[in-house]
Amino acid sequence: MKDIKEIGEPVYSSGLENIYFSETKLSYIDGENGRLYYMGIPIEELANNSTFEETAYLMLYQKLPTLSELEEFTKKLKENRDIPEILLKEEELIPKNAHPMDVLRTIVSFVGMLDENAMSKKEDEIVEKSIKLTAILPTITAYFHRLRNNLEIVRPDPNLNHAGNFLYMLRGEKPSDIEIDIFDKTLILYIEHGMNASTFSAIITASTQSDIYSAIVSAIGTLKGPLHGGANEEAMKMLFEIDRNYNGDVEAYLKDKISKKERIMGFGHRVYKAYDPRARILKDLALKLADFTNNRKWVDMQIELEEKAGPILGEKKIYPNVDYYAASIYYMLGIPFDLYTSIFAIARVVGWCAHVLEYWKIGGRLLRPREKYVGELNIPYLNIEQRR
Ligand code: ACO
Repeated sequence: MKDIKEIGEPVYSSGLENIYFSETKLSYIDGENGRLYYMGIPIEELANNSTFEETAYLMLYQKLPTLSELEEFTKKLKENRDIPEILLKEEELIPKNAHPMDVLRTIVSFVGMLDENAMSKKEDEIVEKSIKLTAILPTITAYFHRLRNNLEIVRPDPNLNHAGNFLYMLRGEKPSDIEIDIFDKTLILYIEHGMNASTFSAIITASTQSDIYSAIVSAIGTLKGPLHGGANEEAMKMLFEIDRNYNGDVEAYLKDKISKKERIMGFGHRVYKAYDPRARILKDLALKLADFTNNRKWVDMQIELEEKAGPILGEKKIYPNVDYYAASIYYMLGIPFDLYTSIFAIARVVGWCAHVLEYWKIGGRLLRPREKYVGELNIPYLNIEQRR
């Protein structure tokens, strides 16, 4: 065992900024130049040429699939889409005003409880559980949305791909090809992003040799926060606020927020000190969808906000992140904004599972950082009558 002298004095890093604790082949973020790679492949190439299913395979198996491998993987995803009756009953009991992220966290926990082999660490079994989790997150989300609106649930359609099937189960109508394609690309862009807060949560749980479901439950709880995955929902609320409370006056909103030292949601990133490459792709997709839906209102507002914020936030190297344009895309797809973070989870579950798999495969150690103690020592214990 290493003692403190061997590993040296602890390094202090507020927010664990700039700390490596492990190694990965899954993704690389070049924050200075605004580049992102999954398994070494530039994100632009995947967004242009791949599909959610293929990119998910790339993450879980750390290689691009052959045609037959992709067919087999897609088949398994489809077979695992529906949820057992007991889970449907559980969803029916959930209060209709629950936040969809709380629903996701609760039901995934239930799924884990039902798996008698949950603690397995066999690689092939972890992959199977990852496929199951990836397949059911959209169903859990769509079913809850239908139930809370007193609508019949829509069972998965095996003729549709992962992206199209989710939109179908949610809206109850077959989406158009262009909607499926754009939604599919947003999922690809959300699949993986290194050691972000939610992935780190998953890995902390996995590092104790707990089970993969518990790791994913930890990750969902972490993703929910507005500084992380919750930002896409907040970014859309911000656009509504500009529209309603500021009469669409982007400049007035910006001045107000900056003077109060409040944050512009969907801007800024711990690692990117240049434009987030995912936001660049999403901006183009948002414009394409705006043309298709014949409604440029929200994306125009976003572009104006980005332009006006540039001279103020650009100085601090703060630019739009992935959540900024995803927000208007999901709005134009007719998705209620309290589902946006669940959609993030629906995609990111792949990255979480891939990291857990990789961490166990490389024999990752128990994660146990330290806090610098700044209190006093040897304080005498006072009996309760002596205390003030
Ligand atoms: N709007 C205005 N100012 C900002 C923003 C923002 N969105 N983000 C950071 N800043 C400012 C801070 O006020 C701070 O200024 P100061 O030095 O004058 O005090 C400075 O930039 C550094 O901010 P930190 O919070 O220390 O930076 P950190 O790396 O911890 O924050 C974070 C990253 C949390 C993402 C931040 O940029 C933020 O809160 N953004 C808004 C929420 C958001 O969009 N989150 C999604 C991130 S991407 C994702 O998780 C998928």
